[in-house]
Amino acid sequence: MAVERVYFGNMPDGREVYKYIISNQNNCSAHILTLGATFCSFNIEDKNGQMQDVLLGFDTVEDYLERSDYQGVIVGPVCNRIGGAEIEIGGENYPLTANEKGITCLHSGGELGFSLWKAIVTDSDSVEFSYIAADGSHGFPGEKEVKVTYKLTEENAVHISYEAVSSKDTYLNFTNHAYFNLNGFNNGDILSHSLTLDADLFTEVDENSIPTGKNIPVDGTAFDFRSPRIIGKDIDDEHIQLQYTGGYDHNFCINGYDGKLRKFACAEGDKSGIKMNVYTTLPGVQFYAGNFLKGIKGKNSLPMEKRTGFCLETQYYPDTPHNPQFPSCLYKAGEKYTSETVYEFSL
Ligand code: BGC
Repeated sequence: MAVERVYFGNMPDGREVYKYIISNQNNCSAHILTLGATFCSFNIEDKNGQMQDVLLGFDTVEDYLERSDYQGVIVGPVCNRIGGAEIEIGGENYPLTANEKGITCLHSGGELGFSLWKAIVTDSDSVEFSYIAADGSHGFPGEKEVKVTYKLTEENAVHISYEAVSSKDTYLNFTNHAYFNLNGFNNGDILSHSLTLDADLFTEVDENSIPTGKNIPVDGTAFDFRSPRIIGKDIDDEHIQLQYTGGYDHNFCINGYDGKLRKFACAEGDKSGIKMNVYTTLPGVQFYAGNFLKGIKGKNSLPMEKRTGFCLETQYYPDTPHNPQFPSCLYKAGEKYTSETVYEFSL
């Protein structure tokens, strides 16, 4: 195992951005930027012995800051959508940044993903990134100290471990927004990938992608990924939930959630034979099929077209602050938030 640090570019104010590369003995490497603690590349050989980078992303700091659909970044303090862009804690109302259609708070305004983090190499296989979000930034109460550690194992697994503490009671719900293409970022769309998700239920949304409060059975629908399903098979099905969101963009409720690390997903690239198992300690995962990608230029100046990457954003359910029946993500002042998600690659 080895960790290398390379210069990546400069922030608009001149601060330097670095890329950390963690490599193992199987010729795999995980690349993470200090900008957004962004998981920007994962390199692995495919079944034909060709090296593939299975993550969508950009080549420059400017692109990450100006063109991003959150490619690979850490999102928080509350990922996904909060309806009405406000929360109530202890009888007090907190208006939040309404960065989607002027009515929804999406990904907390993106602050964590577009800021510079500090990095320390903590071991020959691990790098810890840290960031402090100010009390009240984007409306969220409490100064929040956030730490995210990336570790690569000899089993080709990338462990992402999160820790956070807030100085005031607040909601905490972090994720990583990597877009995967297991055939390689430059090898077409993800519609022929197969995907398995261990989820009997998914979270129903309204026409603005805000949860209605109900979780509905996947049984007999295009949402049934309990055995391997080709992503593109029913992505344009007439199911009203797919019509609202323009393809898969829903929270799946992970079966058997108990706060322990649990395998809940397996995906495979049809051309490359590269497989990815995903584990998490969290109760939900946003399966987003990259429906809103619009051909923006990414790595190697190649356009990231619609559905050329998919995300498995592990999380507490979206809009949990307005749905007390969902597993709670309200943390007391000083109480430690922890979670872990693992992306494990194989052939
Ligand atoms: C959301 C999508 C959104 C994407 C990029 C995902 O978490 O579910 O609707 O387009 O993030 O913001």
